[in-house]
Amino acid sequence: MTKGLDRLKGLSTSVGTKLFIILILLLAFAFVVIVYYNINTYTNHLHQNVLKNAVQVSNIIKSACYYSMLKNDRESLQSIIMSVGSQEGIDGIRIYNREGIISFSKDKGEIHHVADKRAEQCYVCHREEPAKGLVPTKDLTRILTSPEGYRQLGLVNPIENSPECYNAPCHAHSKEQKKLGLLDVKLSLKSIDEEISATRKRMVVYSVALILFTALLKGGFIVLLVHKPIKKLIKGVKEVAKLNLDYKVDVKSNDELGILANSFNEMTKELKNAQSHLVFSERMASLGKISASVAHEINNPLSGILSYAKLTSRILEENGADPEKIKIALENLKFISEESKRCGEIVKNLLLFSKKTFGTIKGEHLSTLIENSIRLVEHSAKLQKVKFVKEIDGENDIVVVDTGAIEQVFVDLFINAIEAMPNGGLIKVSTKNGKDDIMITVEDTGCGIPEDILPRIFEPFFTTKDAKKSTGLGLCMVYTIIEDHGGKIEVFSKVNEGTKFVITLPRLSKKLS
Ligand SMILES: Nc1ncnc2c1ncn2[C@@H]1O[C@H](COP(=O)(O)OP(=O)(O)O)[C@@H](O)[C@H]1O
Ligand SMILES: [Mg+2]
Repeated sequence: MTKGLDRLKGLSTSVGTKLFIILILLLAFAFVVIVYYNINTYTNHLHQNVLKNAVQVSNIIKSACYYSMLKNDRESLQSIIMSVGSQEGIDGIRIYNREGIISFSKDKGEIHHVADKRAEQCYVCHREEPAKGLVPTKDLTRILTSPEGYRQLGLVNPIENSPECYNAPCHAHSKEQKKLGLLDVKLSLKSIDEEISATRKRMVVYSVALILFTALLKGGFIVLLVHKPIKKLIKGVKEVAKLNLDYKVDVKSNDELGILANSFNEMTKELKNAQSHLVFSERMASLGKISASVAHEINNPLSGILSYAKLTSRILEENGADPEKIKIALENLKFISEESKRCGEIVKNLLLFSKKTFGTIKGEHLSTLIENSIRLVEHSAKLQKVKFVKEIDGENDIVVVDTGAIEQVFVDLFINAIEAMPNGGLIKVSTKNGKDDIMITVEDTGCGIPEDILPRIFEPFFTTKDAKKSTGLGLCMVYTIIEDHGGKIEVFSKVNEGTKFVITLPRLSKKLS
C-alpha cells in the first residue's frame, strides 16, 4: 500500500508526468480556441445566410402581393398571405397599414389589432419622429423567442408608395404618402439553432475524443522515450552508488538520453578499470613490502641449507661408507640443493619485485630490444616448432627505458606464448608508432586463456602450469615493469584461438618511480 503510494508520488513528480500535463494543457487550450473560433465563424456564416434568405423571402412576398394591393383586392391578398404563411419555417406574416393596424395576417385573429409604435417591429423606424426614411437591412431585423421557446427572426419590410399606387383608380393613397404600410415576416430559426447546437456538440465531442486519443499517444511516447530511460538511468546511478560497477544501463536510443546512458556505461567501465587497477596496485604494494622482509628472512637460512648440503655431500664422497646409503644420501642432498636453488630463484624474483630498482635507463630503439629478446628464446621456439612473424616499425621508435627490464618483459611474453603452443604455432610481434606512444602487440596462436582465469593472470604466484617448474611471477613482473615505465598492458584471449597482449609504452621518458 505504502509502496503504491510512493510510486504514485514519484510518478506525480517525474519529468515525464510534468511534460505530459503541460502538453495536454496546451493541447486542450489550443482545441478550445480552435473550436470556439470555428463555431463562431460557422454561426456567423449561417446568420448571414439566414438574413439574406429572410430579405429574399420578404421581397418575394411583397412582389406576390403587389397586384392584389394595387387592385385593392383584399380577399386575394389575405389568401396569398395565408398560403405563403403556411410554408414551413414561416411563423408569421403581417401587413400593417400606415396607422399601425394589422390589415392582413397569417393569424386571422390578430387582424384589426393596433400595434404600438414602441412595439419592436415599429420601433425600428419610429425610434425618432418623424420616422426614418432609410434604415439599414440589419436594423430591420430582430431576434424573438417563440412561445415554444425557440428563436425567430423578425424582418420588417416597408411598403413604399409608387406612381402605380397613387395613380390607381381606388385613390386609396395620395402622392405625398411615402410609406403605405409595413410587411412584417417572422421566420423560424428552430432548424438552424438545432443544427448549430448539433454541430457544437459534435465539435466538442470530436475535440475531447481527439484530445484523449493524442493524450494516450503522447503518454505512451513519453513513457517510452523519457520516463523509462530516465528510470533506467536512475537505477544505474543507484547501482553504481552501491559499487555495483558491472551494472549496465540498457538504453538503446540515439537521442540525448541514449548518449547519456552510453556515457554512463563508459564511466562505470572506466571506474571499474580504475578500481581494479587500484586494487591490483595495492596488492602489489603490500606484496612488495611482505616479500622484501620474507626474502630477507629466507635468504640466510637458504644459503645455510645450500652450503650444508654441499658440505655433507663432499664429506660423504670423501669418507666413504655403505655405498647404497651413500647413493641415497647423495640423491637426497642433490634434491636439497636443487630445491634450495629454486627457492633462491624465487627469492631473487621477490627481491627484484619488491625493490623495483631499475638498471640503467637509456634511449634505445624498441625494435632492437624486441630483436634481442627474440634471439634469447629462438632456440626453444625452434624446438617447439614456433615461428616468429614480425611487423615492426623501426623508424622513430626510441624508448627511454631500463633495457634489461623491457627485454625481460618480451622474453616472459614469448616464453608464455611458446608454452601455450606445445604443437607449434606462430608468434606475431607488431609495433605501431603513435604520436607520444608506441603500441606493441604480441599475439600467439596457442591454447588461449579461459574467461574465468583471465582477470587473474597478472596476480603474483598465479600459474596454471606445473607448480614445480613455474613460479607464476612472469606476468606479474611484466605488469609491474610496464606500469613503472608509465605504460599499459592489456590482454585479449579466446580459448583454442590464441592470446594477444597489447602494450603501450611512452616514447618519451617519464619519471620512473
Ligand atoms: N600466451 C599465453 N597463452 C595461454 N596462457 C597464458 C599465456 N600467457 C600467460 N598465460 C597464463 O597465465 C598464467 C600466468 O603466467 P605467468 O605469470 O607468466 O606465470 P607462469 O608462466 O609461471 O605460469 C599462466 O600459468 C598461463 O595459464
Ligand atoms: Mg610465464
